[in-house]
Amino acid sequence: MSSQPDLRVKLGPLDLKNPVITASGTFGYGREYKDIVDPNLLGGIILKGLSLKPRAGNPPPRIVETPCGMLNAIGLANMGLDAFMKQELPRLQTLDTAVIANIYGHSIDEYGELAAALKGVDGISAIEVNISCPNVERGGMAFGTDPDVSAEVTGKVVRNTDKPVIVKLSPNVKDIRIIAKAVEEAGAHALSLINTITGMAIDIETRAPKLANITGGLSGPAIRPVAIHMVYQAVQTVDIPVIGVGGIMDSRDALEFLIAGAHAVQVGTANFVAPRATLDILEGLKIFCRDNDVAQISELIGSLKIAE
Ligand SMILES: Cc1cc2nc3c(=O)[nH]c(=O)nc-3n(C[C@H](O)[C@H](O)[C@H](O)COP(=O)(O)O)c2cc1C
Repeated sequence: MSSQPDLRVKLGPLDLKNPVITASGTFGYGREYKDIVDPNLLGGIILKGLSLKPRAGNPPPRIVETPCGMLNAIGLANMGLDAFMKQELPRLQTLDTAVIANIYGHSIDEYGELAAALKGVDGISAIEVNISCPNVERGGMAFGTDPDVSAEVTGKVVRNTDKPVIVKLSPNVKDIRIIAKAVEEAGAHALSLINTITGMAIDIETRAPKLANITGGLSGPAIRPVAIHMVYQAVQTVDIPVIGVGGIMDSRDALEFLIAGAHAVQVGTANFVAPRATLDILEGLKIFCRDNDVAQISELIGSLKIAE
């Protein structure tokens, strides 16, 4: 095939120029990578997790390398809503890509307030809701581990915004299908999965945990098979589009997710290993399409073949 493949994909109401998006917390607000990656070439960028008030996050050490991955316990450090609106939003409004705000709160009302504050704001294409953080009203249990609470958060955000709502699921659950269904029924327009898997590492000399927070979130290639399985399960369960995330390092990894049924992919830890990873993945997808006579990348979505 000599012509360029059509890389456009649809995430419910959201049109993306291609399926490659940066994952929250691994690409800052895009500015940090400005000399390396032109965000306008990507399908979208998902911003660092945003809370109502600024947060310093956890004390260091808050990152540790593990086999085929990393543990992080950043603790969702960020500048808070007001500073974001003043310092980051004006530049983001000039971008020609989907800019997706990632929000989190410690109570359902906080999620609602954030969604309301971003309602009608120019330059924010969609909201991704991180439900992996602790719910202070329920003894610190993560919102995303309970289907009813996950649905409640989703409903609150959906009612308070005019933007497409993507809910990002936690893999730290017994059955992802139950949460996926609950969130879909509460009005989500799309799902992303997975967030990090809870883990821990110990320094045997000091006998202390390697992270000051004791536990952290595992990301990178180590979690990819888990992520692919959960995407596959979610795709079988819901009708809304799913975005795959977890250990995507190159275009072959991204293709696995698309074939499993994901409509788009997010690239996280790979940005730390190779800052141009998103662009390399995009190029690899184009080459794969050309080599395999795939005119539109959307043809690959859910093209998994399972023997009868
Ligand atoms: C350092 C770091 C910070 C992260 N911060 C956030 C965040 O603020 N909000 C969120 O929803 N996910 C956050 N994540 C999770 C990623 O967006 C992604 O879901 C996860 O890392 C799995 O993808 P990966 O293996 O490609 O990194 C963070 C991950 C890392 C490694």
